[in-house]
Amino acid sequence: MSDNFDLIVIGGGPGGDVCAIRAAQLGLKTACVESRGTLGGTCLNVGCIPSKSLLNLSENYHKAKKNFFNQGIEISDIKLNIEKMMNSKNKSVQVLTKGVEFLFKKNKVTYLKGKGVIFSPSDVIVYNEGKKTSYKTKNIVIATGSSASTLPGVKINEKNIISSTAALSLSSVPKSLVVIGGGYIGLEMGSVWKRLGSEVTVIENLPYITPGMDREISNEFQKILTKQGIKFLLNSKVISILDQGSEVKIEYESNEKKIKEVVLANKTLIAVGRKPYTEGLNLSKIGIKKDEKGRVKVNKKFQTNVNNIYAIGDVIDGPMLAHKAEEEGIAVAELLAGQSGHVNYDVIPGVIYTSPEVAYVGKSEEQLKKDSVSYKIGKFPFLANSRAKVNNETEGFVKILADSKSDRVLGVHIIGPHCGDMIAEMALAMEFGASAEDIARTCHAHPTHTEAIKEAALAVDKRPIHF
Ligand code: NAI
Repeated sequence: MSDNFDLIVIGGGPGGDVCAIRAAQLGLKTACVESRGTLGGTCLNVGCIPSKSLLNLSENYHKAKKNFFNQGIEISDIKLNIEKMMNSKNKSVQVLTKGVEFLFKKNKVTYLKGKGVIFSPSDVIVYNEGKKTSYKTKNIVIATGSSASTLPGVKINEKNIISSTAALSLSSVPKSLVVIGGGYIGLEMGSVWKRLGSEVTVIENLPYITPGMDREISNEFQKILTKQGIKFLLNSKVISILDQGSEVKIEYESNEKKIKEVVLANKTLIAVGRKPYTEGLNLSKIGIKKDEKGRVKVNKKFQTNVNNIYAIGDVIDGPMLAHKAEEEGIAVAELLAGQSGHVNYDVIPGVIYTSPEVAYVGKSEEQLKKDSVSYKIGKFPFLANSRAKVNNETEGFVKILADSKSDRVLGVHIIGPHCGDMIAEMALAMEFGASAEDIARTCHAHPTHTEAIKEAALAVDKRPIHF
């Protein structure tokens, strides 16, 4: 059987889904190939969504156990039912993946179930349960995402040496968990299992956590997580990991002292980054070029070196974030429809959904120094924000970096309650080229956490009101 499409998107994650829907909206006859059995990719099935569900559920449990009593809410006999918690998470995932399927139908995107292989620049073959079907297409978008990286010589067996996928579905709380890597996944999943009762130790190769983030924020973040009981072994390199059945033996060495040490744990989570996933796509035969990190090379229009084949999301350069992939998906669809699709990489927010949350957009102080940009800083602590105070969520602060001369906002970094939502205001401000004064003169509702943003903007000009 053969079918002709204007566009076949390979990969049904946030990048691919959104690209296919937008292309169909713009009148292109579009198909999306996905081999997982459900749409939504890593993000929806085994990433952003299930992790946010567990972060929310584990925080509720933790609050009920530790905080409610002091707030006059006395519940006796609080018990954790991990099976129910996992079912609740699974249900959220199921509803959302079905939602994407519904959106495909609504927008007339053809959903091709199976593994897509690029046979030629105009032919995609889909393999599904022993069946092989060929499709003709004018354009192809590669949106196959990424897979978990591991350490040299370490095999993730998803039993005791686990990736984030197994960490999202453990059937019992491990007594101890060693997390390798103090990045997004390590700290989010470490927080989940710490709240549910595990002893959590994070081993990080660098002398600080969350590399790339504004250092002042990452130092504060580490302090807060340490107070929550997470142990950190920084500046330490893991040498070997041995699954001994009942426990895992992790050998590591401090980069400074060069002394080898051993830590034992019930489970270890490998969270040392992700790598582009292009296996089985037939890219080398088609002649598609990749860079030294295995990322598909694209130009500013997301075009590979083969004219009608494009790539977006985790398989290309840039932060491995669902919303970055979505923006690229929309841009490619619009370019294919003759419009002028574009992504502003200077304004891509990042959020870590721990408690408190961490959120940022734009440049860090370290980046501004490196680029020799002269800047002003405005900071405001949540301790002085009335809403945070009444909610007992006073940790953290807002930090705004603005150009010394023009006052234009160059970066915003927040650690504190609900900042994952609050950062949208700052992304919008930056898209419109706002100055710190623009933000300071914008009326913010009282009492809300967002007033801390207004105050930090006032602090850029050394005139905060409430601090
Ligand atoms: P990551 O890049 O955020 O962090 C990996 C950490 O591992 C780094 O701090 C690195 O220095 C450390 N590391 C590397 N090799 C090491 C070694 N041998 N020993 C000890 N530490 C080592 O990667 P992560 O956490 O695995 O996340 C993967 C991707 O998924 C990220 O690019 C992130 O953007 C994305 N993600 C985003 C989330 C969000 O938006 N909230 C949540 C989860 C993942």
